[in-house]
Amino acid sequence: MGNLLILFIASLGLCLFVALLYVLYNYWWVTHRVQFIMSSQGIRGPPYEFIHGNNKQILQMQKEAYSKLMALTHDIFPRVLPHVYSYIKKYGKNYLSWNGVQAQLVITDPELQGDSLVTSESEKRARQRKLANYAFHGESLKNMIPAMIASVGTMLEKWKDKEGKEMEVFQEFRFLTSEVTSRTAFGSSYLEGEKIFDMLTKLTLIIGRIFYKANIPIIGKFWKSVDEIESNKLEKMILDSVMKIVKQREEKVMTGEVDSFGHDFLGLLVNAYHDPDEKNRLSIQDVVGECKTFYFAGQETTNSLLEWTTLLLAIYTDWQDKARAEVVEVFGNQNPNSEGITKLKTITMIINETLRLYPPINSVVRKAVRDVQLGNLVLPNCLDLNIRFIALHHDPALWGDDVHLFKPERFAEGIAKATNNNAVAFMPFGMGHRSCVGMSFSITETKIALSMILQRYTFTLSPTYVHAPLPNLSLKPQHGLHLLFHSLD
Ligand code: HEM
Repeated sequence: MGNLLILFIASLGLCLFVALLYVLYNYWWVTHRVQFIMSSQGIRGPPYEFIHGNNKQILQMQKEAYSKLMALTHDIFPRVLPHVYSYIKKYGKNYLSWNGVQAQLVITDPELQGDSLVTSESEKRARQRKLANYAFHGESLKNMIPAMIASVGTMLEKWKDKEGKEMEVFQEFRFLTSEVTSRTAFGSSYLEGEKIFDMLTKLTLIIGRIFYKANIPIIGKFWKSVDEIESNKLEKMILDSVMKIVKQREEKVMTGEVDSFGHDFLGLLVNAYHDPDEKNRLSIQDVVGECKTFYFAGQETTNSLLEWTTLLLAIYTDWQDKARAEVVEVFGNQNPNSEGITKLKTITMIINETLRLYPPINSVVRKAVRDVQLGNLVLPNCLDLNIRFIALHHDPALWGDDVHLFKPERFAEGIAKATNNNAVAFMPFGMGHRSCVGMSFSITETKIALSMILQRYTFTLSPTYVHAPLPNLSLKPQHGLHLLFHSLD
């Protein structure tokens, strides 16, 4: 018995010792080593704090910034990313920051171009990207236009009772983009798709809450917070729902009721799930992952673009008039069509200027998968590279002293001319081999929605609107978007 007790205490002691070594290595040695490597190359940043990294300080700065109101200007960078703004001032355009124990090199300097850093790209990932590219371009995209028009039509039908009254369009656009996403992703199964997206919305809120929470070493593996338990539950429910739709489609093919899994996005994924080539085959988790990406990447962002474009047109009614004149010239009072959509030059300029001032996503992240050279810097392989392009979009050195003014005419001769051929000055859809595959989809959806609204209404800002852009996955108006609509009939 005595021997057993000694053995037990010795084993416990050994486990504690290994745990201590693990914590010391990951949470002290690695972090200090990275700080040393970077500072010896002139890159400084807020010092790493045990477990939390810089998250406590960042949360504090955000809390303060988001509790204040701002004037109705487009100089939004200090409010949207107060920590990045303040660290740049203190440490320079490129600095080292800590998301918990994860080191991030934050880049806001156009000289340092990040696409030479490659996140590992498996064959399967390349295939997933190809699939998404196929689903959201060319003929497939053209085939989605009627669903987009039908969804905008449903939204505008509801607006008829609200004529002349104030309307909160943030929620309206949320329903619209969610419906378009469900219809285009899930086709005939779109009602089930909507349920999945509802769960994803809940999951988004929870992920937002737990993002900056410290992950306590070892204990975090055994003890889960209420939010983490809830998010695991939602993950499981989403997986079950996607599996249910996949099974339904498989059964229909097996019983001969239909001859394919469908031509919507989910249909393409189910095809890939059945790929005879194992290397290319997607697992059910991959299928769920793709649905999630589509939702997060597609719905949230397009929603944001629509909101800020509408806000800017409500403020700058001269541009609203120009946009309407163009829509009437191209479509008259008919519904938009794919050929006409490509002719909307003024609206393209307005959308680009909106994306510059209010980019729905403010940064892209790349992982160094090996030690790499970036400009004069040698980066250790555990580093994330965070390109905060909102800083570039608001940099007077790139855009001139009128950088914070809404001037769509900058883009009159295209993006290359507006940026002086400096690709990193304007990258709302990211860049390089990981850039957004849904760009055409979301621009098409935005153009259709704007055209159909402009054909029917004039709109202005309501006196109750409070200007408070907030990055919550995508850039949102914190207190909603209140506008006044007047029918043109
Ligand atoms: C205004 C709307 C949108 C904006 C501003 C936007 C922005 C972005 C950005 C910044 C990235 C990261 C690129 C990078 O890492 O370099 C991205 C990736 C992605 N976007 Fe979008 N996006 C939008 C709409 C959409 C839509 C509608 C879809 C789907 C139909 C979509 C699907 C994706 C996917 C799948 C990726 C990952 C690409 C990859 O990793 O290979 N996005 N998007």
